[in-house]
Amino acid sequence: MNAITLLKNDHKTVEDLFKRFEKLGPRAVKSKQDVVERIIRELSIHAAIEEMIFYPAIRQAVEDGEIEDMVLESLEEHHIVKWVLSELDGMSPENERFDAKVTVLTENVRHHVEEEEHDLFPQVSKRLGRPRLDELGEAMARLKKTAPTHPHPRSPDEPPGNLVAGAGAALVDRARDAGRKLVQQKAPKMSRPKAGSRP
Ligand SMILES: [Fe+2]
Ligand SMILES: [Fe+2]
Repeated sequence: MNAITLLKNDHKTVEDLFKRFEKLGPRAVKSKQDVVERIIRELSIHAAIEEMIFYPAIRQAVEDGEIEDMVLESLEEHHIVKWVLSELDGMSPENERFDAKVTVLTENVRHHVEEEEHDLFPQVSKRLGRPRLDELGEAMARLKKTAPTHPHPRSPDEPPGNLVAGAGAALVDRARDAGRKLVQQKAPKMSRPKAGSRP
């Protein structure tokens, strides 16, 4: 798949989740939690594949000050988004700061996506040939299966540091997700002893 198509599909997935969150009422605590958990996962994976593959590849391919500046600004925007995500990760929707954090996150991500789709991607499409964009798309699709699923704002966001730290973080994240899923699964119902029956 073409790299730009893959990244735009991710943006659409996240925008749909933001819209879903915006429609939820103040008392929809469980649904808010579920939607935000998905946003955290989708954005963590998306930021990782851009930082590990897409941004370094375009910086290497196109030695252009304007693109360089756009990538550097993108990394800073990711950094801020990851901090907000890390604060939301594990926070109760009943916390009075929860909705405000999701609003600020939504505004930041919408701004960032707008810049990528209107400024960066058209430039990259023009400069990188179709075969290279397909190659990057395939690599990112593969990495999506093993990338970190939680935000790590203190970790390096450029190669080689992020490739090393990212691999370890992904293992921990995915083990943590599996553990949480296990705990959330309903325990089998125990049959109650009948009244009067002896233990
Ligand atoms: Fe993006
Ligand atoms: Fe990005």
